[in-house]
Amino acid sequence: MVGVGGGIAAYKACHLVRNFTEHGDNVRVVPTESALRFVGAATFEALSGNPVSTTVFDAVDEVRHVQVGQQADAVVIAPATADLIARLAAGRADDLLTATVLVATCPVIVAPAMHTEMWLNPATQANVATLRSRGIVVLEPAHGRLTGKDTGPGRLLEPEQIAQFARAAMAGANFTHDWQGRKVVVSAGGTQEAIDPVRFIGNRSSGRQGFALAEMAAQRGAQVTVVAGAVDALPTPAGAQIVRVSSTRELQEAMEAEAGDADVIIMAAAVADYRPANVAQSKLKKGAADTDLSVLHLVENPDILRGLTQRRAEGALAAATVIVGFAAETGDESHSALAHAQVKFARKGVDLLMANDVSGGQVFGKEDNAGWILSAHGTPQEVPSGSKLLVAAHILSAIDREIAQRRADKTD
Ligand code: CTP
Repeated sequence: MVGVGGGIAAYKACHLVRNFTEHGDNVRVVPTESALRFVGAATFEALSGNPVSTTVFDAVDEVRHVQVGQQADAVVIAPATADLIARLAAGRADDLLTATVLVATCPVIVAPAMHTEMWLNPATQANVATLRSRGIVVLEPAHGRLTGKDTGPGRLLEPEQIAQFARAAMAGANFTHDWQGRKVVVSAGGTQEAIDPVRFIGNRSSGRQGFALAEMAAQRGAQVTVVAGAVDALPTPAGAQIVRVSSTRELQEAMEAEAGDADVIIMAAAVADYRPANVAQSKLKKGAADTDLSVLHLVENPDILRGLTQRRAEGALAAATVIVGFAAETGDESHSALAHAQVKFARKGVDLLMANDVSGGQVFGKEDNAGWILSAHGTPQEVPSGSKLLVAAHILSAIDREIAQRRADKTD
């Protein structure tokens, strides 16, 4: 079910409904009275293929709020205005939407949209905290341009992002807002090593998994910085600061600058192991007397991840910092992808390693991911195939377990 509050962003609910129906979901749209001032019922009826009503007094014989609330696999409310959030927090049931939420036992996902002042107002924040304490997922709004000239937190997330969060919530992702006060630094995308002003050595990383990690950590309340190399045209992770880099050495510099006060560092970037020994200042020309384009001299790049774990071992980073690496592996005649990852886990000195099998074009640029999470405690945890957001949720849960384990070790 998609609930729609009465805000200017109500038009984006149309795209959200579309997103769900295109995935084969049967969508019931339940707007508030004021939502219909922005988008007409006919639009929602046409998009969803289902009747639209705002009140419990339509089709009384069907007891619609009970029927819709009980049958829904998820209730997604977008946009949720300050008023709607207040009514939900108070447990009101004065229209079909709020009454339905009281009936629903499925995941309820709320995507707020309002002016920054209204979002930050202690009344709204208290209402949000109340809803979260009841297990309702209240998504952090995006930062950005609002209806007027003002910018700040309060903008509705993109419909695609809301749909992905909703699917992750339905699949059991943990959205507990308990990473507040934690600084998370995530690297994402691929590095590019310049050969000359027009050519570079790069790789197929899309940046999706790193962005998904940043988004999930931000949704759990963390302060998040993404250090992004080359990434596909993806929306900026909601709630995260972004630092753009290109080469491995730029990535290293940015990671080291951010790592000092980080609680969690995740190296999801695909880093070029080598770079050209010399970068030509002007475009290299075929057939030029002084250049042989068939030979490229390379030098090894620093291992950023190993450098970070070493700095921690030397005391330059806090011992409590959790460091997570990635390993994209393919199996060969002698070793499976997982066996290669186990060797890498030991070599990198990380606390956790998310390993995936990338043979046959799996993972890179794809919407889904799967693999294993390796840790020093126990056997590798299998991560079933799911959206990169859901995989991100698994990785954050593994970090939760790592932190809990350290606390337990300390008290022993
Ligand atoms: N990594 C890094 N710096 C590098 C290379 C890799 O920080 N120069 C990080 C990646 O971000 C990833 C992890 O190390 O988190 C493993 O990357 P991968 O390319 O799989 O490992 P390599 O050390 O390059 O090992 P190999 O290519 O031999 O498999």
